[in-house]
Amino acid sequence: MKHENFLKENNARHFWHPMAHPSEMLENPPMIISKAENVEVQNIDGHVMLDAVGGLWNVNLGYSCEPIKNAIIEQINLMPYCNTFRGITNDKAIELSYKLKEWFSSDGMEKVFFTQGGSDSIDTAMRLVRQYWKVRGKIDKIKFIALSKGYHGTHYGGASLCGDPRFRRNYEPGVPGIFHIPTPYTYRNPFDEENPEKLSKKCIQSLEALIASQGSDTIAAFVMEPVIGSAGVIVPHENFMKQVRNICDKNDILLIADEVICAFGRTGEWTGSRLWGVKPDVMTIAKALTGGYFPMGATLLSGEISEAIEKNDNTLGLLGHGYTNSGNPVGAAAALAALEETNKLNLASNAKARGAELILGLNKLKNKHEIIGDVRGKGLMAAVEIVEDPISKKPAGKDTVAKIFQAICDEGVLLRASGNNFIISPSLIINKDHVNKITTAMDKGFSII
Ligand SMILES: Cc1ncc(COP(=O)(O)O)c(C=O)c1O
Repeated sequence: MKHENFLKENNARHFWHPMAHPSEMLENPPMIISKAENVEVQNIDGHVMLDAVGGLWNVNLGYSCEPIKNAIIEQINLMPYCNTFRGITNDKAIELSYKLKEWFSSDGMEKVFFTQGGSDSIDTAMRLVRQYWKVRGKIDKIKFIALSKGYHGTHYGGASLCGDPRFRRNYEPGVPGIFHIPTPYTYRNPFDEENPEKLSKKCIQSLEALIASQGSDTIAAFVMEPVIGSAGVIVPHENFMKQVRNICDKNDILLIADEVICAFGRTGEWTGSRLWGVKPDVMTIAKALTGGYFPMGATLLSGEISEAIEKNDNTLGLLGHGYTNSGNPVGAAAALAALEETNKLNLASNAKARGAELILGLNKLKNKHEIIGDVRGKGLMAAVEIVEDPISKKPAGKDTVAKIFQAICDEGVLLRASGNNFIISPSLIINKDHVNKITTAMDKGFSII
């Protein structure tokens, strides 16, 4: 490691950080993490914290998963790279495609297109869905509908699907033909509706109205995260995704489930779609696919979609799409090891059990601290939304968030502060003591206000 002073002096000087204003990073340089072990990270000053962010919703197996590390080392020694463009493939990518087909078979997925991450997976899904409709001769079906609070990455397609202007405004114009409907977010919504079932119905009515006004013959797909992650862990009513599925079926619109966060057990079920009892037409995955040990993702397609493209007998079926690292053998080796560990440790059931304890603990904090406006979660994805006062629901300011964040760090827990939300998404291998540590540190953090 370079000398500590060198790192501190050069922190954020030459490196622009994602999702931050460069001037803010220069003024307030980010925390330098230099070591990670099991479910903990250590900063450059030696302060150890339980990583309640789980990397970025991806380090599901913690930082010391020997089988993944060994698989990567072995594969690098054997063959560090192999492309998979027409005419060439590699053993690990073939094996992984087989395993993923098995893993997602109860979601109805049959084919895999490998990508380099979540944003790639979403843009791949959008491109393949448009291609599918062209192959089917329905050339006007090009538009997409998404949720106002959805997050779908930062490529042009995915960013255009994002409802939050923070991800679009500075880069517009985005991809045309993208529309949003209200999110079933009970704490804040345009209908002032707190009842989850009634709110879900109103959002569904908005979807129906939008389809009617655009014309279903122009809409390619509806895109949603089964549990909305980055916007602050918004858990839709249990009927919402099923109703979306019904509307899509009635109108010949495809359903893309963005499972970049949810897949591989985070919600307490193996996929977010399974959590709600829905079979989508297309799924996007990334993050926990390799446990965060290698950047890799995939877009998965149902039998109906893939068959139409495979059976096409003109150039419309040609996949003019792909990445240098589609099916990278090191990534595939990492993913194979991660899948095996995920299955062996039954991470979905641990996420469900620990998630229930976490929500219970967070709700106790809500009863104690007036600053907490809302607590939401499913499995091991949760958020605590803080407000200036519970009646006006005015979001807590930046300084308050920063003070609480620092106090929780000092107590040995690293959270993610996003706007006025604290997001909790630890590794899925955490135990009951880790959950207690998170809620105890948060209790102390909120007590400083
Ligand atoms: C639901 C969802 N989709 C897509 C993405 C983009 O993934 P990536 O950052 O790997 O490109 C993210 C990232 O957080 C995500 O949460």
